[in-house]
Amino acid sequence: DGVSKIREEELTPLVEEFYARVRADPALGPIFNDAIDDWPEHLGKLTAFWSSVMLTSGRYKGQPVPAHLEHKARITPALFERWLALWVQTTNDRMTPEAAAALQAKARRIAESLQLAMFFQLEE
Ligand code: HEM
Repeated sequence: DGVSKIREEELTPLVEEFYARVRADPALGPIFNDAIDDWPEHLGKLTAFWSSVMLTSGRYKGQPVPAHLEHKARITPALFERWLALWVQTTNDRMTPEAAAALQAKARRIAESLQLAMFFQLEE
C-alpha cells in the first residue's frame, strides 16, 4: 500500500511546505500565525505526528484534541475543509500518488474525529 512507500525523510519537507501554504492562506493563516510563536518547534512536532501516524514510529506524544479545543472560538467545519484541501494539494504535489492517497485518507479520518471532539462536545 501507499504507507510502505513513505519515508521519514520525505515528511519534513512535506510538513514544511504544507504549513507554508497554511500560513499564506487568508482563512487559515491568521489562526496559525496568532497561535504559534515557535515555528521550528511546531514543524518538528507535526513531523513527529505524521511519522507516528503513517510509520507508527511512536515519535509524537502530544494531545491534539485539547490543543485544538483551545482555539475552538476560531475554528469552523469550513476551515477543516480548507485545511484538507491544502493537504490534498500539497501531498499531490510532493508525494507519489499512492503515498498522497494514504496521507489524505489518514488526514480525513483524523479531521473527522477532531471535529467530533470539537463540535459535538458535551457542555461541562
Ligand atoms: C496543533 C489549528 C486541523 C494536527 C494546532 C495548533 C493550531 C491548529 C492553531 C496549535 C495549537 C497550540 O499550540 O496552541 C488547526 C486548524 C485546523 C487543524 C485551524 C483545521 C481547521 C488539524 C488536522 C490535524 C491537525 C486535520 C491532523 C490531521 C495537529 C497537531 C497539532 C496541531 C498534531 C499539535 C498538537 C500538540 O500540541 O501536540 N492545530 N488544526 N490539525 N494540529 Fe491542528
